Amino acid sequence: MGERKQTALITGASSGIGRETVIRLAKRGYRVIGVARRMDRIVQLSSHFDGIIPKKADLSRPDEVESLYKYIIERSEPVTVLVNNAGYSIRGALEEVPLHGIRRLFEVNLFSLIRITQACLPGMREQRYGTIVNLSSVAGKFAFPMSGVYAATKHAVEAISDALRVEVRPFGIRVVTIRPGAIATEFNEVANRMTNELVQQSEEDYRPVQEALGTAMGRLFGQLSLPGPGLIAEIIEKAVTSDSPKPVYTAGPLVKEFLEPRFKMDDEGFDRYMAEKTGLLGLKV
Ligand SMILES: NC(=O)c1ccc[n+]([C@@H]2O[C@H](COP(=O)([O-])OP(=O)(O)OC[C@H]3O[C@@H](n4cnc5c(N)ncnc54)[C@H](OP(=O)(O)O)[C@@H]3O)[C@@H](O)[C@H]2O)c1
Repeated sequence: MGERKQTALITGASSGIGRETVIRLAKRGYRVIGVARRMDRIVQLSSHFDGIIPKKADLSRPDEVESLYKYIIERSEPVTVLVNNAGYSIRGALEEVPLHGIRRLFEVNLFSLIRITQACLPGMREQRYGTIVNLSSVAGKFAFPMSGVYAATKHAVEAISDALRVEVRPFGIRVVTIRPGAIATEFNEVANRMTNELVQQSEEDYRPVQEALGTAMGRLFGQLSLPGPGLIAEIIEKAVTSDSPKPVYTAGPLVKEFLEPRFKMDDEGFDRYMAEKTGLLGLKV
């Protein structure tokens, strides 16, 4: 694509991986539309870096996603780089996670991603050029116990990305999946805030399960040093600016511990491995 200033749209621009990616692409001269609810943070960023356009949207609300769709589709300058990054996690026993909470999670992590992609594709198709980066997770390829619904959203992001990659390649549009391991952002704090109450009010039966899992995960995370969001933002920047990005990029802790074994083991072997790693192997309540 010539020397014209390109437009990137990044969701989840107010924090963590999204924020770092906004800064990197703005520094590279992209015009960057930064989407999130906490506008103050993006407005502040825009006072430090040129070319950042703050755009408020609550992606859990279909009406606000529709307004964003309209805003994108009506722009005179097409979005040529889309980073679908907004997302969060909820935890809890499947039996107890309220369905409205699961629906909200799917609105943010999956449905808004699909709708925003639909808004950007016509412009990309017309240009015969564009890059779509979708944030999955290592949990896009396996699931931790008590985190099945989050993993379900990321498994869906993987499937959408895999199909779309092949579907739009004939138009010169590239689709990249990013699979981070554990990264030091507000992600964990948000997950705790969204689910602590649910976990505390859990059925007695689930207590030993939670305790065993908590101990095992505490031990595991105690041995890890979590990288900051720059690790993933750098990969996104590389993928966006590369002539031939890889279909999938994986980085961060938990890749070695879980993702690699998942790809090496059969289903039965990995099921046992997961139960053992999470302290649940042989547990009887
Ligand atoms: N950190 C990790 O360990 C990790 C690992 C694997 C994958 N990931 C994935 O990486 C992506 C970025 O996460 P992060 O680690 O950077 O987390 P983060 O620091 O918590 O940032 C999440 C971003 O998503 C936005 N967001 C959340 N709910 C939203 C809503 N309803 N409407 C609009 N925006 C919303 C937040 O903006 P507002 O709150 O201002 O709206 C924020 O900018 C997510 O898709 C996550 O699943 C993270």
